[in-house]
Amino acid sequence: MPTETTKPAFNLTNYEVKDEDLPEFRDIKFENINQLELDHPGANDKEYRTRRDNIAGLAKKFRETHSITDVEYTNEEQEVWHIVATKLEEIQAKRASEFYLDAKKKLGITTTKIPQLSEMNKRLKELSNWRLAPIEGLVETRAFLSWLSYRTMLCTQYIRHTSRPEYTPEPDIVHEAIGHIPNFTNKDFADFSQFIGHGARIASDDQLEELGRLYWFTVEYGLIEENGENKAFGAGLLSSFGELEHAFTDNVERRPFDLERVIKTDYSYSDMQPILYVIPSYQFLKDTTRRYIESFGGK
Ligand SMILES: [Fe+2]
Repeated sequence: MPTETTKPAFNLTNYEVKDEDLPEFRDIKFENINQLELDHPGANDKEYRTRRDNIAGLAKKFRETHSITDVEYTNEEQEVWHIVATKLEEIQAKRASEFYLDAKKKLGITTTKIPQLSEMNKRLKELSNWRLAPIEGLVETRAFLSWLSYRTMLCTQYIRHTSRPEYTPEPDIVHEAIGHIPNFTNKDFADFSQFIGHGARIASDDQLEELGRLYWFTVEYGLIEENGENKAFGAGLLSSFGELEHAFTDNVERRPFDLERVIKTDYSYSDMQPILYVIPSYQFLKDTTRRYIESFGGK
């Protein structure tokens, strides 16, 4: 770990982000999202693309109004949710962290209805002073992570294509609501995420890459030890049947979490993950990450 030098230019322990402290949502920097990648199952479905654009339009509107518009999901979209959520719930009963399963209930996330960001945002604000903000596509890494510094997670609202309920090449409401959002009800996890955000605001390019790895092996693919057993809390695991089952097979090396090692471990987006890290607790993750971010200094 780098040695501690100067402190960052903001208070690392300010968990009370107020609305007036938020940066302008309209300044969010997106990746180029005009073209749906060709391997997207909806790439050649005109009707799907129009629908996705309409829902994306609500996120654009948010940046002007700062108010989340609910999506009136169609029956077909509700059906996709129902299929995925039901199958995931089955596997999660055995594999997901206890905290996560409880949080899902607290947020009212069920298999029967796609949850609205507005409702989850309201509940999260009460539980852990966390916020959700709709976006229409992929945001640049530094910008995306920096929003965590303001206790805000940027989330998509559209849903994957009906032809492949088990698969999406981009984040969608299943990935956000079933994967990410329940974790933010945990105060330690929320604080840890905020530290990653603080780090992203001051990181050098190399440090940003390390932060990306930390995010990947925790927020997306993290395991936690609970009562002597490994359980999943990462969104990439919790929102994918394939990954969730694979994570517990002999094909995966499950290593005890070691921050120095994690930030140097490469990963690939396209394959099943061959290496996963197991944290002992959210509190540990928070404290370790805090010391790491403090070591960045005010660059
Ligand atoms: Fe994600």
